[in-house]
Amino acid sequence: MNTLIAYGTRKGASRRTAELIAETLTNVDGRLCIVKDAKRVGRAQLEGADSIVIGSSIAVGRWKPSAKRLLRKAGATGKPVAVFVSAAGMLSGKEPGSPDAEPKGTLAEREAEAVARYIDPVAAKTGARPVAQAAFGGRMEMFGKVMFDNWDPEPITAWATDLTRKLR
Ligand SMILES: Cc1cc2nc3c(=O)[nH]c(=O)nc-3n(C[C@H](O)[C@H](O)[C@H](O)COP(=O)(O)O)c2cc1C
Repeated sequence: MNTLIAYGTRKGASRRTAELIAETLTNVDGRLCIVKDAKRVGRAQLEGADSIVIGSSIAVGRWKPSAKRLLRKAGATGKPVAVFVSAAGMLSGKEPGSPDAEPKGTLAEREAEAVARYIDPVAAKTGARPVAQAAFGGRMEMFGKVMFDNWDPEPITAWATDLTRKLR
């Protein structure tokens, strides 16, 4: 059993997430994982995989185009596909421009909102029907200043552990 884990990143957080997902899947059930930038995934990799995980960085509400294109192709294979986004802004719960305000809602509510806003519409548009979706934190830097750093290995490991039974 092998799983392709492809990511679209701007600053590397989504790649870190993809690598941790791969490490977890391998630890849990010994599967072979290939981690690759979505823009370097070709037909051979899609054909060779038994299941596929695709992740994207979110900026101004948008996916990396390479990850979105790959999601469309992955969905068309009929293989099990799981999707994640790296959405440090939404998961922080802070309104843009109000870094000192109290975060809005619970983390679970923010994760659900990020899935609804960033994954569901893209999955619908690409025709993919993911077996699992998740929104994780990441890292956001602007003009050399770290605005958010909420990359957390724990929810990523938990989601990937659960994925082993969904990606069969
Ligand atoms: C210009 C810019 C726009 C962003 N827009 C959003 C956004 O709309 N929603 C969100 O949740 N996070 C937003 N973020 C935060 C990124 O999602 C976060 O930094 C993520 O971890 C980036 O992943 P990457 O390192 O794989 O590119 C933005 C970050 C930048 C720099």
